[in-house]
Amino acid sequence: MKLDSMELPLAKNNTPKIVVQITLTLIVLAIIPLSYPLLGNYPLFLLKNSCNNSSDYSQSSSPSSHDSRREDLIRALQSEKRCDIFSGEWVPNPEGPYYTNTTCWAIYEHQNCLKFGRPDTDFMKWRWKPDGCDLPIFNPAQFLEIVRGKSLAFIGDSVARNQMQSLICLLSRVDYPVDVSYMPDERFKRWKYKTYNFTLANYWSPHLVKAKEADSNGPTHTGLFNDLYLDEFDEEWTTHIEDFDYIVISAGHWFFRPMILYENNQVVGCRYCLKDNVTDLPISYGYRRAFRTAFKAINSLENFKGITFLRTYAPSHFENGLWNQGGDCVRTKPFRSNETSLEGTDFEFYMTQLEEFKIAEKQGNKRGLKFRLLDTTQATLLRPDGHPSRYGHLKNENVTMHNDCVHWCLPGPIDTWNDFLLEMLKMEDNYTHSNTLSVDNKTR
Ligand SMILES: *[C@@H]1O[C@H](CO)[C@@H](O)[C@H](O)[C@H]1NC(C)=O
Ligand SMILES: *[C@@H]1O[C@H](CO)[C@@H](O)[C@H](O)[C@H]1NC(C)=O
Ligand SMILES: *[C@@H]1O[C@H](CO)[C@@H](O)[C@H](O)[C@H]1NC(C)=O
Ligand SMILES: *[C@@H]1O[C@H](CO)[C@@H](O)[C@H](O)[C@H]1NC(C)=O
Ligand SMILES: *[C@@H]1O[C@H](CO)[C@@H](O)[C@H](O)[C@H]1NC(C)=O
Ligand SMILES: *[C@@H]1O[C@H](CO)[C@@H](O)[C@H](O)[C@H]1NC(C)=O
Ligand SMILES: *[C@@H]1O[C@H](CO)[C@@H](O)[C@H](O)[C@H]1NC(C)=O
Ligand SMILES: *[C@@H]1O[C@H](CO)[C@@H](O)[C@H](O)[C@H]1NC(C)=O
Repeated sequence: MKLDSMELPLAKNNTPKIVVQITLTLIVLAIIPLSYPLLGNYPLFLLKNSCNNSSDYSQSSSPSSHDSRREDLIRALQSEKRCDIFSGEWVPNPEGPYYTNTTCWAIYEHQNCLKFGRPDTDFMKWRWKPDGCDLPIFNPAQFLEIVRGKSLAFIGDSVARNQMQSLICLLSRVDYPVDVSYMPDERFKRWKYKTYNFTLANYWSPHLVKAKEADSNGPTHTGLFNDLYLDEFDEEWTTHIEDFDYIVISAGHWFFRPMILYENNQVVGCRYCLKDNVTDLPISYGYRRAFRTAFKAINSLENFKGITFLRTYAPSHFENGLWNQGGDCVRTKPFRSNETSLEGTDFEFYMTQLEEFKIAEKQGNKRGLKFRLLDTTQATLLRPDGHPSRYGHLKNENVTMHNDCVHWCLPGPIDTWNDFLLEMLKMEDNYTHSNTLSVDNKTR
């Protein structure tokens, strides 16, 4: 697995800048595989990147127009009028966290922030308070009852796996799964909760569509290129999910890498390939088509009857520098919702997802397939304090590591993604038919 060569934008409000850094790439490539055998799916190259002027959405549009645009779409997506659990604030929760790195073995090394010396602990002591209702804290027994005899798959990159590991840890108060993977590959794990006959799996598919690593003719000759076949299914997951009751699909940070884009087996353009005869396309071009194809795959699976959750884009939080120039995420408190807003590529990705989701939902509905929006972006945006930063690895390791402001410490903010997921499953299941969104004391 190779590292990417793209830089990040400067901190918010600074002018985005794009540079290809060959030397850094070579250094990183040379060092990382030795020290990080698991790095194969640890995308420090999961870089956020700036769009030049290539955005589908005006970069200068104001946050308020962003908000109203989102609201319009959300309204269109929600058939019923109910509390939007995804808009709210983080409020202190002294009772958190609900597991630790000693009670849960499923925390990936690079996200085990306390182990690697993160000094502050407040980042584990917040809960999400939707405007106008409450979001119950995750109830593992209730979750396992709802999914009894069922199966759930996470499809995406290492952030998707991050959420699965959070789920395993949240459930660990009640039960642990056994490993029933069909291959010895961290990227395709399958777990079984025997008591509940519940299957949990993850499928590695950072671009959601067919992709090939590495074109040695890339501009940096480092094999950094991905060839992305935007209209072809990634059979690593599309041929495996037919029996799943629930799938949670997500993608994002890998689209910042340089890549050649194919449609109909022809090159249609690229990202940063620096080839005269290939058009550099806006970053959302590939992103949009990848989601369109992924959803098309789902809708075309004859025997699939499951519910598809789109876990929306999770912004990273590099500040005061590019990802490879000391950019870091050192905050120790969440933002309030009036202190930040979704901008630039984050916004573009998010809106692209909503739009493609809406199209897919309409098509799916025709054959009775359900699509649900696990709309975590806003809550996640407000948690710059939840990343490993430099506590995702040993301090004294003699390697150049960049701060990780992409993944999430466990325990940490993304435990709330599973609070959301449970809340949505309850609605599906008609489990608590009335009053789904009010606090149910029994579930505490
Ligand atoms: C980005 O835009 C600037 C000016 O707006 C231009 O000089 C530069 O070449 C562009 N970069 C890319 C990669 O398109
Ligand atoms: C970038 O902006 C220039 C000038 O504003 C415009 O001519 C060009 O088409 C834009 N490129 C893209 C990819 O939007
Ligand atoms: C858990 O975190 C503590 C610090 O709070 C650390 O000392 C310990 O090594 C960690 N244990 C594991 C198993 O990760
Ligand atoms: C377990 O669940 C699967 C469906 O996921 C079902 O086919 C199977 O019969 C169940 N097994 C038991 C022992 O209940
Ligand atoms: C671009 O040019 C190179 C070298 O001239 C050629 O090998 C390649 O096939 C061309 N690519 C496209 C998409 O035309
Ligand atoms: C955000 O809202 C809080 C509480 O409503 C208020 O105290 C604070 O001043 C506001 N901050 C900004 C930057 O507007
Ligand atoms: C750490 O890196 C430096 C510079 O590359 C090297 O001289 C030194 O021997 C390394 N130390 C260890 C313990 O590997
Ligand atoms: C939910 O439960 C109610 C009352 O038990 C029932 O009438 C309704 O059909 C159920 N809806 C779904 C979607 O299962």
